[in-house]
Amino acid sequence: MTNNIRPLVAGNWKMNGLKAELAIASAVAQGYEPGLRRSVDLAICPPATLLFAVSAALIGSRIATGGQDCSAHESGAYTGEVSAAMLADSGAQFVIVGHSERRTLHGERDADVNAKAEAAQAAQLVPIVCVGETRAEREAGKALAVVKKQLRGSIPQGSTGATLVVAYEPVWAIGTGLTPTVADVADMHAGIRTELARLLGKSVAPGVRVLYGGSVKPSNAAELMGVANVDGALVGGASLKAEDFLGIARACGA
Ligand code: 13P
Repeated sequence: MTNNIRPLVAGNWKMNGLKAELAIASAVAQGYEPGLRRSVDLAICPPATLLFAVSAALIGSRIATGGQDCSAHESGAYTGEVSAAMLADSGAQFVIVGHSERRTLHGERDADVNAKAEAAQAAQLVPIVCVGETRAEREAGKALAVVKKQLRGSIPQGSTGATLVVAYEPVWAIGTGLTPTVADVADMHAGIRTELARLLGKSVAPGVRVLYGGSVKPSNAAELMGVANVDGALVGGASLKAEDFLGIARACGA
């Protein structure tokens, strides 16, 4: 945790969820009781097809919603794309950009991620900019250098703690059940904070939430969330079970 930062636990449903899964959002809202509400922010990022309905189901719950990607373009002839303004219009406050699955499966580079993050901010959305090294990069001792380069290339200039969230997601920890050691998470998050200070200024960096993502579960959340400079979690698989997602939120707010 970082002093004076309100943690954020965001659920990335990825390409999972039909109408029946609206029940997950309602169950999370039910479990977001006042004690938890006082200590941690929650966001659910369902597939774009469910964003409007999930946002509607969460009205009054103080749980935010987000998209999982957005176009870098404002509008126009981009068949199949969803603009940041469309996500905002569907009720979103956040949008995940540069997730490793987008970087790997769709060839997104830092410049693309940067353009999407800029588009998000222009539409009053807060981009959750994902960074993280592969297994080979970690084994080669390049993890921090890779992540710093991604930050430099991806983060919009002039971002503040109110307009940017960063998520560190080591690629090899996503969906694998593997997590870095507490010491490695501490080193990486400290390195990210230092790089944010260089990029955005020393007064801005301490206010930017830096989430950890990759195989976060209720059983390991307290340990991971207790690390300095970890300001919440970006949760994949475990966000599809309301009780697990709430368990992670409780560990984060504790
Ligand atoms: P898992 O929590 O399933 O490892 O996924 C992490 C992730 O990719 C969140 O964006």
